[in-house]
Amino acid sequence: MRPIEISPSVLPADFARLGDEIAALEAAGCDRIHWDVMDGVFVPNLTIGPDVVKSCRPFADIAFEAHLMVVNADEMAPLYVDAGCEVVMVHAEACTHLHRSLDNIQKLGAKSGVVLNPHTPADTIQHVLDVTDHVLIMTVNPGFGGQTYIPLVSKIETVKQMVDTGGHDIDIEVDGGINAETIKECAVAGANVFVSGSALFCYDDRAAGVAELKGNAETARP
Ligand code: DX5
Ligand code: ZN
Repeated sequence: MRPIEISPSVLPADFARLGDEIAALEAAGCDRIHWDVMDGVFVPNLTIGPDVVKSCRPFADIAFEAHLMVVNADEMAPLYVDAGCEVVMVHAEACTHLHRSLDNIQKLGAKSGVVLNPHTPADTIQHVLDVTDHVLIMTVNPGFGGQTYIPLVSKIETVKQMVDTGGHDIDIEVDGGINAETIKECAVAGANVFVSGSALFCYDDRAAGVAELKGNAETARP
């Protein structure tokens, strides 16, 4: 069974103190940092460039994962690897040659992630699992934090079945509207990594929040 991991989105963080916020998330027990990179074209929002990620790298030892919500994912991926991201995740919807995009990320020495928008079927990634380390299943329409969770349990189950049937060493991650309640059904369905932004940042005691999210996922899954 793959370990349960919490990967906080930095969107709700205080961008004036981003380095300290990252350090606090690591201290609270988070397993990775989820950088939501938006270009204002693929999604109607503009966020974090590679130089910001690079400046935050020294503040934490845990892995950085870049969720690229950008139209030019192939050009952007190397910049985020150079900025210190161990994982780079690209949207299937943004990559004309998805197999090549993921393979290139792995060839850069990073772990590759493929992201599926809520409307995109699981079988879209059937033929790229051999060059994939993470599958990120969006449970909101990308672009903003704090949105309402979209239940996609059957899609998570389908991806889990594809991964298990193929014997792939792949993390299944969900992103959007994940809180102490919604994490349960996602864990039961087969996800083991959970992005949480607004829900985690609502906890006064963030370590307690991480512990509750992890505990609920552990308890829920079979
Ligand atoms: C949305 C982002 C998500 C989002 C998660 O486009 O990819 O990572 O920030 O935030 P919450 O947990 O508040 O939905
Ligand atoms: Zn994200």
